[in-house]
Amino acid sequence: MSFKGKVVLITGASSGIGAETAIYLAQLGASLSITARNKLNLNKVAEQCGQPKPFIVTGDLANENDNDVKNIIDSTIKRYGKLDVLINNAGIAEFGTIETVSLKQYDNIMNVNVRSVFQLTTLAVPYLIKTKGNIVNVSSVAGLRPFKNGTTYSMSKAALDQFTRCVALELASQQVRVNSVNPGAVITDILRNTGMNQEQIKIFYEKMKGAHALGRIGDTLEIAKSIAFLASDDASFITGVTIPVDGGWLLMSS
Ligand SMILES: NC(=O)c1ccc[n+]([C@@H]2O[C@H](COP(=O)([O-])OP(=O)(O)OC[C@H]3O[C@@H](n4cnc5c(N)ncnc54)[C@H](OP(=O)(O)O)[C@@H]3O)[C@@H](O)[C@H]2O)c1
Repeated sequence: MSFKGKVVLITGASSGIGAETAIYLAQLGASLSITARNKLNLNKVAEQCGQPKPFIVTGDLANENDNDVKNIIDSTIKRYGKLDVLINNAGIAEFGTIETVSLKQYDNIMNVNVRSVFQLTTLAVPYLIKTKGNIVNVSSVAGLRPFKNGTTYSMSKAALDQFTRCVALELASQQVRVNSVNPGAVITDILRNTGMNQEQIKIFYEKMKGAHALGRIGDTLEIAKSIAFLASDDASFITGVTIPVDGGWLLMSS
């Protein structure tokens, strides 16, 4: 699998799955544009990617006037002149049920996990049509099956999965593929960013091990490799799929 000559834009590349995917694709020869809000962390990821150094563009995907998302695409095109692959990876999680979730939480989740993906994709599509490129969305098993206490997160990922299928259908005639990976639990900063403390996170992951048929949680590299496969020419006849990379989580009953 080679990404030599391919320009790949990855959102949420400052941490977790996005950072791992950047490093993995760099090893496969991709020319990277990496984005997130935290420049320090993006710089650290870029260092791990080696040479040629990825192009870094900071931005808040949920910023109110929508300018950051536009700048991410514009500056990437200015730097490389084209776009072959868009990896919509950035995402946030929050917990709560229909009895406890606030409208603010709903808006936060939807803005980052759905609205920004929609906006970035609309801006990227003209360039992807030119290169007959592809999109990989990073969803979750929560998009395919609900989990308790994760209503807004599950809703956002279900919307993303339907977006994957709709856009795949719409762009297929132009030879642009659109797919998704739907990870099970993977250790990243995602839970810390919800406000959980170390002890709560430890307990959560311990419990989650048993929820996966393979009896363990996943590794960021296992997700990165699946993203890379879908983004590569090896997946040239695959479009519109939402692939669980979940250690058999979906096999287990809720
Ligand atoms: N970890 C899991 O168990 C798991 C399971 C299933 C699916 N996923 C999905 O995998 C994707 C990556 O998550 P992760 O686990 O790697 O989490 P993470 O370590 O918390 O990384 C999330 C990334 O998204 C970026 N991000 C968040 N809000 C943003 C905003 N408003 N603007 C720009 N960037 C923003 C963060 O960067 P900055 O903070 O620097 O902006 C960071 O790079 C998400 O879509 C998540 O839903 C994760």
